[in-house]
Amino acid sequence: MNIENIKKSLENVKYPGFSKSIIDFGFVKDIKVEDKNCTIYLDITSTSKEVEDELRREIPKVLPNLNLILFFNKPKEEVQKSNSVSGQNIAPQIKKIVMVSSGKGGVGKSTTTVNLAIATAMQGKKVGILDADIYGPNIPRMMGVNGKEVEVVGNKAKPLNAYGVDIMSMGVLMKEGEAVIWRGAMIMKAIQQLLRDILWEELDILFIDMPPGTGDAQLTLAQSVPVSAGINVTTPQHVALDDSRRSLDMFQKLHIPTAGIIENMSGFICPNCNTESDIFDKGTCEELAKEYKTQVLGSLPIEPAIRRGGDSGKPIVYFEPESITAKRYMMAAEKLIAMLDSQESNDISNEAIQPIMPAGVSACSPEGQKIKAEHQAKKSGGCGTGCGCK
Ligand SMILES: Nc1ncnc2c1ncn2[C@@H]1O[C@H](COP(=O)(O)OP(=O)(O)O)[C@@H](O)[C@H]1O
Ligand SMILES: [Mg+2]
Repeated sequence: MNIENIKKSLENVKYPGFSKSIIDFGFVKDIKVEDKNCTIYLDITSTSKEVEDELRREIPKVLPNLNLILFFNKPKEEVQKSNSVSGQNIAPQIKKIVMVSSGKGGVGKSTTTVNLAIATAMQGKKVGILDADIYGPNIPRMMGVNGKEVEVVGNKAKPLNAYGVDIMSMGVLMKEGEAVIWRGAMIMKAIQQLLRDILWEELDILFIDMPPGTGDAQLTLAQSVPVSAGINVTTPQHVALDDSRRSLDMFQKLHIPTAGIIENMSGFICPNCNTESDIFDKGTCEELAKEYKTQVLGSLPIEPAIRRGGDSGKPIVYFEPESITAKRYMMAAEKLIAMLDSQESNDISNEAIQPIMPAGVSACSPEGQKIKAEHQAKKSGGCGTGCGCK
């Protein structure tokens, strides 16, 4: 066969999804023949593997007597700027998102967020805090920015800044003391807006102070951006640890790598007599960390200076950097940074928890069933009907 005959045969190969042939499209760039050996060079416009696979099946059918070698030149797949392998990322300018969670309220989640965020900023990172605790947005007070006006540029709000950390909170967007009854859908919308409609700069780390528990807010966040690490804050008594287990289980279910546990209110040193009492117990988190194959990032005692720092908007890590407590926060921040640095930039995927139904399509409807089957087929490599072909 000569090159002209080969081209004639290739006119019968349609470009997948189109009525024109690969010759009509001009995708066949070069053909080399030597006896029965033929090499064909194709330039195609699709990055899709399916398109290449189909052409690899169809071309030999029209040239059955040749030993074919096919070379495909395809456009490079666009590299995502985010650290998400796939799935949504509505805030790609933020390199790492750290979710600060607790099983219950009042254990020191916001206190930890504030001091850890400042400690990481003091170690040279560009840091932000998003206060997503819509039920108790305490970050503005703890960072000393409550009552400050938010600047609006176009239709986006600029974060406030204190102690080198960018801050945005539901607390500064709602009227002080205003109570809002949040339903699931509203929480989801609020969290997404706090990521999308705030002018977050390029950040190394954004800490998110979550509402307590394991609910809609956590799921929405993990479905909207790739969360690089989860921190669990707990007090050491067993009643609190039970709730922490739920929070650590949630990280696993949402495919969030666990950075570690902060054991807060761990022991109390009496300022008068200097004796230590373990009011909420002490050291129990080490076992929990082992159980979940993670680490204790730090143990912080009950200390009046921590509470005072929170109430006055003067966080201890910034105002008393020489204190033992500040040093513990600095060490916890160091451990967190090491954990984040050890992650490959693109090994965080939230693909597994992305919703597969488009908005408005019920999973039980015939269309929904079809989408579900196609999704499963993609995952398993079979036809998705459960017939066992894979
Ligand atoms: N280690 C600590 N020592 C003393 N007070 C603390 C400590 N951790 C937190 N607090 C105080 O306890 C209260 C609850 O802490 P907070 O961070 O608001 O908890 P959460 O965000 O989990 O509800 C705050 O008044 C805070 O200042
Ligand atoms: Mg709080």
